[in-house]
Amino acid sequence: MNRIQIQQGDITTFALDAIVNAANEAMLGGSGVDGAIHRAAGPRLLDACLAVAEVAPNVRCPTGEARITAGFDLQARFVIHTVGPVWQGSQHGEPELLASCYRSSLQLAREHGLRTIAFPAISCGTYGYPVEKAVAVVRKTLTQCLADDAHFERVVLVAFGDESLAAVQAGFPSQS
Ligand code: APR
Repeated sequence: MNRIQIQQGDITTFALDAIVNAANEAMLGGSGVDGAIHRAAGPRLLDACLAVAEVAPNVRCPTGEARITAGFDLQARFVIHTVGPVWQGSQHGEPELLASCYRSSLQLAREHGLRTIAFPAISCGTYGYPVEKAVAVVRKTLTQCLADDAHFERVVLVAFGDESLAAVQAGFPSQS
C-alpha cells in the first residue's frame, strides 16, 4: 500500500503520531489550521510554544524550519509546527521554502521516532500559495524524502475543502 495517503477532513481529528501545524514564526497561534490546532490542543500548547527558544526577536520557528511540541488535548501525540512561505509570485524562494517545511517536518518526526504524520496544505490559505503549485512541490519533496526511507508508515495529506481535495488528488494521480 502506498504510504502517502490523501484524506479530506479536520487535521485536529487525526489520531497519528504527529500532525503538522501551518504556524507563523512567532508560534503564538493564529487563524486557519493554527487556530484549530490550538483550540483543540488546549492552552497548554501555547505554553509549550512560548517555551520554544526565540532565535530572533519574536521568531521561534524561521520560515522553512520546524519545531515540535506535545499534542496535549489533541488525539495526535505531537504537533510539528512549521512555517510556510508567503506567496509572492515564486521569485522569492517560495518553492524551496515550502519544500523545506515538509523536509524539516519529516526529519523532526524521524528524529523523534514518529512513524505516522499528517500535513495540512501548508501556505495554501492565509499565505496565498496557489494549491496546484504547492501540490507539485509537495509531491516532488515527499517522493524524494520517502524514496530510500522505510521509517514512515503513513504520511497523510489532509485537504480541508473540496477544492483543496480535488487539487491534491490531481497532483497525486497514483493515490486517487
Ligand atoms: N484541518 C486541515 N486543514 C485546514 C484546517 C483544519 N482544521 N483549517 C484550515 N485548513 C487548511 C486551509 O484550508 C488551507 O488549505 O489549511 C491550509 C493552510 O491554510 P492556513 O491555516 O491559512 O495556513 P497558511 O496559509 O500556511 O498561513 C499561515 O495563517 O493561521 C495563520 O498563524 C498562521 O500566520 C499563520 C498563517
